[in-house]
Amino acid sequence: MPIENSRIGGLYKLSVSERRELLAELADLSPAQVKAWADSGELDEESADRMIENVVGTYSLPIGVATNFVIDGSHYAIPFVLEEPSVVAAASNMAKRCLAKGGFSSDNDQPVMIGQIQVVNCEDPSGARDSVISSKDELISSCNEVDPILVKFGGGCRDITARVIETGSGPMVIVHILVDCRDAMGANAVNTMAETIAPQIEGITGGTVVLRIISNLAVHRLARVSAIFTPEEMSDRGDDSAQGAEVIDGVVQAYHFAEADPFRATTHNKGIMNAISAVAIACGQDWRAIESGAHSYASHERTYGSLTEWSKDDSGNLVGSIELPMAVGLVGGAVRVHPAAQANVSLLGVESADELAKVMAAAGLAQNLGALRALATVGIQAGHMKLHVRNMAVTAGAEGEEVDRVASMLRERGGRITQASVMEALEELRSE
Ligand code: MEV
Repeated sequence: MPIENSRIGGLYKLSVSERRELLAELADLSPAQVKAWADSGELDEESADRMIENVVGTYSLPIGVATNFVIDGSHYAIPFVLEEPSVVAAASNMAKRCLAKGGFSSDNDQPVMIGQIQVVNCEDPSGARDSVISSKDELISSCNEVDPILVKFGGGCRDITARVIETGSGPMVIVHILVDCRDAMGANAVNTMAETIAPQIEGITGGTVVLRIISNLAVHRLARVSAIFTPEEMSDRGDDSAQGAEVIDGVVQAYHFAEADPFRATTHNKGIMNAISAVAIACGQDWRAIESGAHSYASHERTYGSLTEWSKDDSGNLVGSIELPMAVGLVGGAVRVHPAAQANVSLLGVESADELAKVMAAAGLAQNLGALRALATVGIQAGHMKLHVRNMAVTAGAEGEEVDRVASMLRERGGRITQASVMEALEELRSE
């Protein structure tokens, strides 16, 4: 179950352990889950050694929690794992700005993944393609015999398509199996099905099957989320519709820039993935699969463009939407073995892969707005440096309480924050 209210004011003012206690209470987390958060080496050596090869240790990153997210009427506190300041704060800030119109709404596809089977050496590639299509029913049944549990839970192979492509090695017949993976990411189910029916495909086509593997361009498993932001909400103080209208125009222009220019679209989408990858890592997902699917989808059947769309409606509200492949799962994978990932999924309270997919898409949409809003107004450095100043103080040699004192000295002074100004402030503090 998601939490009752994600509008957790003042979370940033609490200490790390106070935040843990508060969120554990709100999301009803177990002491073991809270401990997984608290132990910075949360993955024990034995589990790590089972996960990959030649293990020598583990690597920690902060888990930060974004607040204010209301999606399809439910409240979510969203865990992010990343090293970059301002990201969690910006997502939380933007999520708050669509509450007047009810927050985010989702309209996801069914969780259907594609498995690819490459057939070479066909004497008659077009005939081979047609034969695969006419043997579809028997191939679908063979796929479904492989995974009766998936079928029992309402998933399984839904369709089979085939086409001929021209390549540097000559024509190839490419067969796609479309598999509803339910709450799994699906790589195991899809790859096993593809490998199992390969001999049957060879028999049907007279060719040789080589690759049998999932495609990360999951165009049948798109997550779609949208939200409406009023001019008042988009203004700095939250009540100035004239200033908010200017901000909205700036955001729409920034979006048009990304749509028209791949150099900009790449950075625009990087900002979206700041959230999506951070939540994916927090929740034990295969973030590389999600990243490759997202960027590939941004150039699918068009020039590389934005994964989001921003426009103004007749009332002057900002309307935002995002659409991208979202291959996530709650069954199998790291989410089952990583204690902090389990705690993070429990904090979210998501009960299905579909629910996780919409949370991640909403986080991406909010993150994109945070970046565009800052870029179209004061620029991102002001906010970024305010939050980054503590890291800079540590780099300058500040210890313990000095870190926060140097940070507040620089914030109070205003102006540009540079490594030199941080060092000066530290020296000044130490000479007091
Ligand atoms: C920085 O991590 C992300 C941004 O560059 C995204 C963008 O430019 O839209 C701020």
